[in-house]
Amino acid sequence: MITAMESQMKFLMMPILLLVLFVLLPCSVVTHAKSMIEPCSSSDSCTSLLSYILPYDSKLSEIAYRFQLNISDILAANSINPKTPSLDTHIFHAKSFFKIPIMCPCVDGIRRSISTIYTVKPADTLESISESYGGVVTGQQIGSTNNINAMNPLMIDQPLVIPLPCTCFNNVDNGFPAVYMSYVVQNGESFRSIATEFGTTVTDLAAVNGFGQLVLDPGDILAIPIPACSSANLNWHNESLIVPNGSYALTASNCIKCVCRPDNLQLQCSPSGIVASCTNLQCKDSDLFIGDSYVNRTNTGCNVTTCVYRGHLGGKIFRSLQNSSQVQCPGNQNFNAIPPMVSPYDNPHVPCIGLPPQSSPAPAPSPNMGRDDPYSQKSNIPSDKKELLNRALWYNSLLVGAAFVILF
Ligand SMILES: *[C@@H]1O[C@H](CO)[C@@H](O)[C@H](O)[C@H]1NC(C)=O
Ligand SMILES: *[C@@H]1O[C@H](CO)[C@@H](O)[C@H](O)[C@H]1NC(C)=O
Ligand SMILES: *[C@@H]1O[C@H](CO)[C@@H](O)[C@H](O)[C@H]1NC(C)=O
Ligand SMILES: *[C@@H]1O[C@H](CO)[C@@H](O)[C@H](O)[C@H]1NC(C)=O
Ligand SMILES: *[C@@H]1O[C@H](CO)[C@@H](O)[C@H](O)[C@H]1NC(C)=O
Ligand SMILES: *[C@@H]1O[C@H](CO)[C@@H](O)[C@H](O)[C@H]1NC(C)=O
Repeated sequence: MITAMESQMKFLMMPILLLVLFVLLPCSVVTHAKSMIEPCSSSDSCTSLLSYILPYDSKLSEIAYRFQLNISDILAANSINPKTPSLDTHIFHAKSFFKIPIMCPCVDGIRRSISTIYTVKPADTLESISESYGGVVTGQQIGSTNNINAMNPLMIDQPLVIPLPCTCFNNVDNGFPAVYMSYVVQNGESFRSIATEFGTTVTDLAAVNGFGQLVLDPGDILAIPIPACSSANLNWHNESLIVPNGSYALTASNCIKCVCRPDNLQLQCSPSGIVASCTNLQCKDSDLFIGDSYVNRTNTGCNVTTCVYRGHLGGKIFRSLQNSSQVQCPGNQNFNAIPPMVSPYDNPHVPCIGLPPQSSPAPAPSPNMGRDDPYSQKSNIPSDKKELLNRALWYNSLLVGAAFVILF
């Protein structure tokens, strides 16, 4: 159903798309990178991600400052435990990989983020600024957005708008909840290596991005669908949340932490333990706090009663008891041994996905992206070329330069 709707929408987008391409053409001839743009008309924004390979050694506070985010947002998107020792002073090494969460609004008919502002420092060039953003935006794009040219050179302390790529596609991929990450292709990478890296397929990646050719060049920007956990079917009051696999979200004034469980893509919410003044964390008529469960074994399996989070409104946290009968009892370590009055601040139910080991004071998001990639041969052309071509038409490949001109 959703897929049908999706393709219809893509069909409707076609004319807008062509228009956009022709409008953009004159100013994009200089660029050689392929990237994809999503036309839009609504005023909504979505959650999206940016891949960021650190250009140089940086502290978390420096990364947060560069993108004007709170440190907690970066921790959540990368599933780093905020209680990791000496996080404040830890230096993340150049080439470490981070996911940067950005809001993706509709600006002048195209999805992109323009809320990041950079302040020019002595000796900056457009290229050095582009590099500090990991190449997600080119120096030329920063220049044209800010009207920087020979007559109008960079001035120290000048604020620059950094236009960051992002896409939403209704937060759906093949009918399932997804968050899209803008990813800068690195040297030697192919559709295949990137698909393997992010647990997707060449077909899906090519279809989403609609590049007419299956050859990637370093610096191209791909939209990579990351499967996500959605609160859409959870009956929450006044709140909807979409959390990409491999991350968590803080909500209800940071009182609640919702993890996207990597095994079943279900949200699992519990008290975050990072805010002291949280109330309404315990379910009425029970000893259970949000996220805790009772498990009774039955002849056929287990009866499980869980205190579940139900959204928040006006400072109040909603929660309720939920019963379920399960043929497969929850794992021993997770449930059976848990006394009902578990302290909400040490909730053992939260799976520790991707958290840096506590023993090591040096948390390191996987720094192995892209380089030395065993898959870095040219990508295979998927067999269902036809579907690919179809979707490639609805989607847009901003093929710039001569090839594009010849095409049209
Ligand atoms: C950062 O945190 C502060 C205080 O918690 C909050 O007021 C602000 O809105 C946050 N900023 C962003 C970009 O989330
Ligand atoms: C917020 O919740 C209240 C009561 O639960 C409901 O009446 C209202 O429609 C909700 N508003 C939104 C925007 O979801
Ligand atoms: C979620 O991510 C983990 C790695 O962080 C991966 O092992 C798992 O397969 C992913 N789940 C889905 C449904 O994509
Ligand atoms: C398990 O739940 C079912 C229905 O919810 C109930 O009929 C049954 O008595 C329960 N069994 C136990 C051992 O609690
Ligand atoms: C589990 O067993 C206890 C004690 O026998 C009972 O009070 C409780 O209602 C049961 N819970 C479920 C979900 O069956
Ligand atoms: C859950 O099950 C227990 C025991 O079977 C019962 O007492 C309670 O009313 C049930 N709660 C809900 C919300 O269904």
